[in-house]
Amino acid sequence: MSNFTGKVVIVTGAAHGIGRATAKLLAGDGAQVVVADINDAGGAQVVADIEAAGGKAIYIHTDVGKHEAIRSCVEETVSKLGRLDYIVNNAYWSAHGNVEELSEGDWDRSMDIMLKAIFLFGKYGFPIMRSQGGGAMVNIASVHGLAADRRYGVYDAAKAAVINLSRAMALDYGQDGIRVNSVCPGWIITNDGAIEEKYLQRAASIYAVGRTGVPDDIAKVIRFLLSDDAGFVTGHALVADGGLTAQLQDSAANAVTAHLLAELGQQG
Ligand SMILES: NC(=O)c1ccc[n+]([C@@H]2O[C@H](COP(=O)([O-])OP(=O)(O)OC[C@H]3O[C@@H](n4cnc5c(N)ncnc54)[C@H](O)[C@@H]3O)[C@@H](O)[C@H]2O)c1
Repeated sequence: MSNFTGKVVIVTGAAHGIGRATAKLLAGDGAQVVVADINDAGGAQVVADIEAAGGKAIYIHTDVGKHEAIRSCVEETVSKLGRLDYIVNNAYWSAHGNVEELSEGDWDRSMDIMLKAIFLFGKYGFPIMRSQGGGAMVNIASVHGLAADRRYGVYDAAKAAVINLSRAMALDYGQDGIRVNSVCPGWIITNDGAIEEKYLQRAASIYAVGRTGVPDDIAKVIRFLLSDDAGFVTGHALVADGGLTAQLQDSAANAVTAHLLAELGQQG
């Protein structure tokens, strides 16, 4: 178990999904967690859950698509908790569609939330980390940063850029004791019950480990990358996808075909 006692971490998009799991995991290991989100009710619930488990957290309403909100999130963190050691850029919203379908506003808002927010959290967060002797940032990319999908252009572009921006930041800030890494998750089920079981099983058939992911799978990877155990790891894009991208495309196609035939066999 990692020990984050005395450390302060901002987790964006921490009211739900991977961010929520990460906030709870880090708080359980002693970190003081800033739950930064626009979902005020969800964020308050995460803080209440952490406190009920004996941990420490505060909620700061932060629209990561807005410059001023990021600056004030960092300022409020330091004024309320006294320091800033880690930032997890996880918040997510994206428009979907091909380039004709996407409006310029959709493009800009998606890019602001998924990419520009990382630039701004670095701009305001790194000077504080440097003054404290170091820190770490983990940015959540995706397997969509490694390969593309239909009607996912802005998401694919943002996530590929997250990987390379993280590398660039790692180079610029390594001498200051600040490590920057990204994580590329495969499909992580964050909306339990909303997806029909048969679709989940079909998806699972193309994962080498035989299942899609859960938020804790990624939270544990984030914890490792923030921890001192990863002290020699920076500029790395850690793929946590159950083997999805380890395979050739025909391997995935064969797996899902076999699964569908088995499904049909069961029906007959
Ligand atoms: N779930 C997956 O399958 C998967 C796969 C690969 C990568 N990812 C990445 O992991 C991260 C988390 O995804 P998730 O599935 O847990 O998402 P989610 O939809 O479950 O949660 C996203 C959170 O971000 C918050 N949010 C949205 N817009 C915001 C804004 N402008 N400012 C602050 N907070 C905002 C939401 O309120 C929510 O709490 C994202 O970066 C996503 O791209 C997810």
